[in-house]
Amino acid sequence: MDTTAIALARCEKTGAIADVPAEAIRHLWKAKDGTGVLLRSIEPGDYDIEEAFVNGLSQSTRYKRLMSARRPTSDEIHRWTHIDRRREGAVIAVIVIEGVERQVGVARYAMEKGDHDAGECAIAVSDAWQRRGLGAQLLTALIELARRSGLKRLYGTTLAENEAMVGLALRFGFQVSYHADAGYVWDLSLALTPLG
Ligand SMILES: CC(C)(COP(=O)(O)OP(=O)(O)OC[C@H]1O[C@@H](n2cnc3c(N)ncnc32)[C@H](O)[C@@H]1OP(=O)(O)O)[C@@H](O)C(=O)NCCC(=O)NCCS
Repeated sequence: MDTTAIALARCEKTGAIADVPAEAIRHLWKAKDGTGVLLRSIEPGDYDIEEAFVNGLSQSTRYKRLMSARRPTSDEIHRWTHIDRRREGAVIAVIVIEGVERQVGVARYAMEKGDHDAGECAIAVSDAWQRRGLGAQLLTALIELARRSGLKRLYGTTLAENEAMVGLALRFGFQVSYHADAGYVWDLSLALTPLG
């Protein structure tokens, strides 16, 4: 059994695993159809499942995520899986099918160099998993990770026509405003409450 299957089995028995390092996320969510989805921090060993995930996205989903329909390069996938945890956080959602781990979503933030308390965030859910509640789970986990890491704000941009992202952002209390230079892009900003 691979590590995700073991983690899924353990989560199913005990509920979410709380005893993890401060900056790690490991949480089991059960979809309405009963599928167990493990939300966990990304690791360098996730290159293959991240690559399969991004290459499996429809053109439309990839376009909304990258604002371009191009396929990401191997350098980008390497960078997305070998993150610098001092500046970046990423949570992936994985399921196990016949013993094989498959990534079905990701949410991440990255701080610009010199920025210490705000991160630019992005999120994508595989086409088959959209509108099933996973985006909300991923964003919840990302916000938790960002707060644990001391961030005070998450921000991002989305195409104004991206009703799903605008809807998700509004549901989580992001402020949504027109981007100064491009009316078809909207700015998103969420103030994070510090951990008590
Ligand atoms: C945006 C995205 C991450 C949402 O993920 P999701 O798993 O489909 O979202 P959820 O099912 O968790 O829905 C959460 C909320 O988002 C909003 N939402 C999601 N899809 C929506 C849609 N098609 N239209 C309007 N609102 C939508 C709703 O408020 C929804 O809450 P509700 O179900 O109570 O109405 C997903 O659509 C996606 O990956 N899109 C392509 C990539 C992208 O656009 N990324 C964002 C740019 S960085």
